[in-house]
Amino acid sequence: MTTDGVRVRPLAGADLNEADRIFRLAFGTFLGMPDPAQFGGDADLVRTRWRADPSAALAAEAGGRLAGSNFLTRWGSTGFFGPLTVHPLLWDRAIGQQLLEATMGQFAAWGTGHVGLFTFAHSAKHVGLYRKFGFRPRFLTAIMSLPVGPAPAPASALLLSQLSERDRPGAIRAVAGLTGSLHPGLDVSREIEAVLRQGLGETVLVEDAAGLRAVAVCHLGAGSEAGSGACYVKFGAVRPGPGAAGWFGRLLDACASLAARRGASQLVAGVNAGCDRAWTAMAERGFRPAMQGVAMHRPNEPGYHTGDAYVIDDWR
Ligand SMILES: CC(C)(COP(=O)(O)OP(=O)(O)OC[C@H]1O[C@@H](n2cnc3c(N)ncnc32)[C@H](O)[C@@H]1OP(=O)(O)O)[C@@H](O)C(=O)NCCC(=O)NCCS
Repeated sequence: MTTDGVRVRPLAGADLNEADRIFRLAFGTFLGMPDPAQFGGDADLVRTRWRADPSAALAAEAGGRLAGSNFLTRWGSTGFFGPLTVHPLLWDRAIGQQLLEATMGQFAAWGTGHVGLFTFAHSAKHVGLYRKFGFRPRFLTAIMSLPVGPAPAPASALLLSQLSERDRPGAIRAVAGLTGSLHPGLDVSREIEAVLRQGLGETVLVEDAAGLRAVAVCHLGAGSEAGSGACYVKFGAVRPGPGAAGWFGRLLDACASLAARRGASQLVAGVNAGCDRAWTAMAERGFRPAMQGVAMHRPNEPGYHTGDAYVIDDWR
């Protein structure tokens, strides 16, 4: 069944409260929560992603009212989307597909070579819906968490916010150099700038005399993607090469120390099973999967989720 009169357009600032309400209601309903509106607690994905790039947020309108939304993320040559949500009263009327058509058109216009998403591995509907748009399920992604207590940051770690305004652009370029050495054109600068501009958390830099070795873009607390009590590593990566395993350990130590200093009790970080060394290293440090889903890719290639890549991300 389809709904006539559906229009997909850019999401406007005036839509944000309703988009946030539908986002929580949709996930809370799908997950069977007693009060679906409570989904996500005091974490914020809708407003923070819209502010990061309003031109990358789509609205679906049905009968003149907001029916759903989707948010696109551009990490240079790689992109992903979500949260994609439709009001539960309007499910299965092809509104999600109309949002996806516009989404794929936008990625094509940007020339994004590799597009991914994170979804519910057990849901035939979700996997079937995304397959229609050329995505294929690859490996599981686990959202892991680690309880943290007071710990010093490794000497090699610093925060981007501690650098002078003059030095920050150079540091962000160095991060793009590091991510580009993992996968051609991978660039999370927009994520780093969103964290800086919106005060969502911190970007951790780990370096030695040879330069930047590792980076983690972290959200902290209420109003960010982390929510109260958590430090969430939205993206983390280590420069490939000898010693990468050790730098990954230092990066995790620096994130745990940051979390504890800012009063978080949990360090949350997602890892794709394609990055087997990273998953194993995190498990050995005591991270435990809190939930898991599947990463779907278009084209059906690993991108930067490779066995020897020390990468933290979950594409949620
Ligand atoms: C997921 C969601 C956005 C989909 O939106 P929707 O408007 O209900 O979806 P549509 O009606 O456009 O598409 C449904 C499609 O799912 C696919 N599908 C449904 N059941 C299926 C099954 N059992 N097997 C395979 N494919 C199936 C079909 O392709 C179907 O479209 P078709 O019948 O026209 O071929 C919506 O259900 C939602 O908000 N869910 C809660 C939040 C959520 O899970 N978001 C996505 C997280 S990744």
